Amino acid sequence: MSRLIVVSNRVSAPEQPGAAPAGGLAVALSAALREYSGFWFGWSGETVETFTGEVHTRRVDEVTVVTVDLEDADYQEYYNGYANGTLWPLFHYRIDLTAYDRSFGEGYERVNRRFAGVLAPLIQPGDLIWVHDYHMIPLGRELRRLGVTNPIGFFLHIPWPASQLLTTLPRNRQLVEALFSYDLVGFQTDEWLWAFESYVLGEAGGAWGRDGRLEAFGTTLRAQVFPIGLDVEEFRALAASPVANRAYDRMAAHSVFRSLIVGVDRLDYSKGLEERLAGFERFLADNPELRREVLYLQVAPTSRGEVGVYQDLRARIDALCGRINGVYADMDWTPISHVHRTYRRDELAGVYRAARVCLVTPLRDGMNLVAKEYVAAQKPDDPGVLVLSRFAGAARQMGEAVIVNPFSREEISEGLKRALSMGREERVKRWEILMDGIRKSGVKAWRDSFVEALKASHEPRLPFIESPAILRVRGTLGAGPVAGPKPPVPSAAPGALKRNAKRRRPPPSDAVVI
Ligand code: G6P
Repeated sequence: MSRLIVVSNRVSAPEQPGAAPAGGLAVALSAALREYSGFWFGWSGETVETFTGEVHTRRVDEVTVVTVDLEDADYQEYYNGYANGTLWPLFHYRIDLTAYDRSFGEGYERVNRRFAGVLAPLIQPGDLIWVHDYHMIPLGRELRRLGVTNPIGFFLHIPWPASQLLTTLPRNRQLVEALFSYDLVGFQTDEWLWAFESYVLGEAGGAWGRDGRLEAFGTTLRAQVFPIGLDVEEFRALAASPVANRAYDRMAAHSVFRSLIVGVDRLDYSKGLEERLAGFERFLADNPELRREVLYLQVAPTSRGEVGVYQDLRARIDALCGRINGVYADMDWTPISHVHRTYRRDELAGVYRAARVCLVTPLRDGMNLVAKEYVAAQKPDDPGVLVLSRFAGAARQMGEAVIVNPFSREEISEGLKRALSMGREERVKRWEILMDGIRKSGVKAWRDSFVEALKASHEPRLPFIESPAILRVRGTLGAGPVAGPKPPVPSAAPGALKRNAKRRRPPPSDAVVI
């Protein structure tokens, strides 16, 4: 079997099953990799003063993980800058929050070249390479420049924006052209796929080629939909674990005689937290008789805290919760508890099980795995109800949830009321259909269908030429893949290592959300 090399910016497999992971992406990828030989490559989460290209290799939960440190300037320009200050807001339809600084784009290109320079010598003929998410769009092109001819696929975990938005990005053509270095490009839903096709055909002068391939920039690729899923049985096992049972008991005792409503989201403007709180406030205002019947727990771990808009968002959310509680709380009842801590997945699974309703109301979201985890954690004979935004990719597959428009506080309020008043029979019926759906499109099916499509869509490229560039990189990094002695450190000035102080950057805070 071919080795599978998975590449993503964030590389952090859970240290133990159930422990706090690095986000839906990381959880899904470690589940995907456990059954393949190969390794997972990406950023270590640490910065140093001077980039060395030294790789760190470790085994975590049956997965080989290979990481590299970045420079402080990389972290600012590539991670805080282009990835999270430019592409993230733009791809989530927030051009009002998008930063278009040129230095960010330069940092983004530089880091992708650095990743490619470190990764290329670790690739062997026959390996399949699977690159993930918006941080790494140019990586395929950089690997090709270094002579890599293996099949390379790219999967976008977030939405693809409409052309009218994407064209506001300087050098948008170059970004899309970079995708044409891949053999296969995957999206979460048909909506994002259509938006991509429409750009290629309408803006890039592309055309349909043979076998449904897209042709543009003098080459072709295949673009397809692969909705990401859960390892459902693993999550159900977590939901039945002792840690989950303790969390369940705690929440059940806390909400005795009341219905628990839960929301779990990385603290991000795309998650629609302010709109959700306004919807909850509307529910309290419109339903005085139900007020004291509910408790709303919002878990919103801090995220990307060095990016200004995220700091502002946190301040606004805190103020909004304080204001709503100030208006409605009583001596023995506070409607909203909101916490910024990250919880373990097994604890969250217990909380989901205790919650009568889960609010997943992003304004725009690639998929959203909280929606699927909530469903997976439910009791078959007395399940809770999912209230889901029509703008989450998950809504395309989860029509049995109560679907709402997250921009409308009335719809959130009505959706909540409908969920709270739904009888057991209807809840069970809807849950069974949802559960069947998430079982059928689990993370293994996602991985296997992508890998099979990648093999099928690879068109032979020029033979694996040891270009001067790759020879130079191999010469300095060593060709040994992932085990064995650490390769010598290239390009660091003499004595630089001693001074090359490491800094741990904010760890991923995204407990469960793509
Ligand atoms: C989303 C993105 C992932 C990212 C995660 C956490 O799920 O699609 O690529 O890893 O958010 O964000 P962070 O910036 O902490 O890696």
